[in-house]
Amino acid sequence: MNSRTMVKTVLMLFVLLQPPPTWAVERAEVEETARLLATLLESGRAVIERNQTLIDDPHQGEKGLTPELFEAELVREFRVKSGIDLTALPTAPVSLVIPPLAKELLPALVQAGREVVRDAQVVINQRGIGYKNFIPATWGSQASARFSKSSHVRLKQTALDARNPKNEPDEYEASVLKWLAARPRAEAYVSELTEEGKTLRVVMPIYYAKDCLACHGEPKGVLDISGYPREGHKEGDLAGAITVTAPLNNR
Ligand code: HEC
Repeated sequence: MNSRTMVKTVLMLFVLLQPPPTWAVERAEVEETARLLATLLESGRAVIERNQTLIDDPHQGEKGLTPELFEAELVREFRVKSGIDLTALPTAPVSLVIPPLAKELLPALVQAGREVVRDAQVVINQRGIGYKNFIPATWGSQASARFSKSSHVRLKQTALDARNPKNEPDEYEASVLKWLAARPRAEAYVSELTEEGKTLRVVMPIYYAKDCLACHGEPKGVLDISGYPREGHKEGDLAGAITVTAPLNNR
């Protein structure tokens, strides 16, 4: 090793051994929290999807899909998806795996999601009606809105040409969605600092599975059971995204 390489190596080590600056730690924590919030929303959507036949059963009154049962299923699903046990969260050690912000916000989203199921009990338990418009997307829209109202972090389901006008993408979301739509399926998510580093934006793509196509698939333009015109999508197309917008304080 010549002396210049030596100096470079020592410098490199010096840089690597420095504790990361506060803003970098904060960014990492907020990013991980955002990713976990999006995963939790996805988990809730999966729980509603799994109970869809029950919810849409016109013959059964009381369905037993109580807020308590929903929460238990949500916790189970989130554990499978993330490896994190929400019931152990209060005593879990704070780390980069479970940042302090996640400790505060994950229970808030569970609570919001549970309240949506509580408020929908009359609808869910109605006899004589099949399709009740209580589906993963409506649960997700309502849980996100409820959570975002009481938090400085905003959670949203969005799509290009959204059915629900409240889910319309903003300029940033639209640009990322267009970028994602032009690419093959991505398992990753997009995370970026915007507004000169003051805001972290995370966009987690959702893709259509076969089950979704009864409403979002062909024949294009023909109304689905929820009363919206079908979009003509195919399995594997980009459906939209779950997005998180979080302010960063230390910059
Ligand atoms: C029963 C019909 C139906 C099925 C099945 C369905 N959706 Fe939807 N989807 C809707 C409706 C209705 C909305 C608007 C919900 C609202 O009012 O917020 C929606 C909204 C959405 C949104 C939010 C953006 C928007 O358009 O407002 C996404 C993303 C989405 N659906 C993806 C999916 C995916 C992925 C699946 C399959 C896992 C799926 N949907 C299955 C009917 C359906």
